[in-house]
Amino acid sequence: MEISDEIILKVGEVLNDNSRPLKERFRALFTLRNIGGDTAIKLISDCFSDSSALLKHELAYCLGQMQDTRAIPILENVLKNNSENSMVRHEAAEALGAIGSESSLQILKDFSDDVAQEVAETCQLAVNRIEWLQSNSNKSNCKSLYLSVDPAPPENSQNVSQLKATLLNDNENLFNRYKAMFALRDLQTTESILALCEGLFVGSALFRHEIAFVLGQLQNSHSVPALTKCLSDLNQHEMVRHECAEALGSIASSDCTDTLKRFLNDDSRVVRESCEVALDMADYESSFDFQYANTATIVASA
Ligand SMILES: [Fe+2]
Ligand SMILES: [Fe+2]
Repeated sequence: MEISDEIILKVGEVLNDNSRPLKERFRALFTLRNIGGDTAIKLISDCFSDSSALLKHELAYCLGQMQDTRAIPILENVLKNNSENSMVRHEAAEALGAIGSESSLQILKDFSDDVAQEVAETCQLAVNRIEWLQSNSNKSNCKSLYLSVDPAPPENSQNVSQLKATLLNDNENLFNRYKAMFALRDLQTTESILALCEGLFVGSALFRHEIAFVLGQLQNSHSVPALTKCLSDLNQHEMVRHECAEALGSIASSDCTDTLKRFLNDDSRVVRESCEVALDMADYESSFDFQYANTATIVASA
């Protein structure tokens, strides 16, 4: 369906209205991501003045997944802003890597030793990804089986024990560990999923949050115990706990939603809000709704 500017602006109003429930604003954000284009990018960019780190990190994530070079200036500003939450800056750096423009290499190198480890590591990965794209110009800037643009390509191997050894090796280069992670995801076997679950308890916070993210994409019940344990560990970095909550939301079984409800009042705002959004995702997963990102249909019929 052709979506008019008037409807796009209304969806943008939902996104930017901080009196609305966060779950509605998330659905508006994903709607704008799917619509794409100049106006959608502008409306998403306007929202970086919000106070929710969770929402802002998702803005950056969506701008990266849209792979539109017009979003580069705003993402660079977010990365450069030292007073911004490190999870938001991390996602801005990852988005620059996902867009994959050579023009982003310098700024990503400049922040590759940022004091926030998750930002520094993300910049290193993004540099690796852009250099990989350059040396593999035959590989288009392609999407995974899950339609995501990932921070690294999957390793070309089906050998689970070898991939697992790379994944769990703290002395291995991070880009190679990510390649092993995406290869294990794409195998989608119980064995490969259990190997990923072990990864939830090794490596840096960045590494662990990415493991939780891919477990969310897999939506497999074998990962529920590990995700629950990790979300329940108050000493884990909030970025990791956040991603575990969202993964449980996309698996959406009743034990997942029970766990999410337990953390709706967590001390960490990022975790609390993640549980709120994850419960909405779980609601969608267990309903017959045609689409999660449905704000355009709602504002059009209002
Ligand atoms: Fe992330
Ligand atoms: Fe996230």
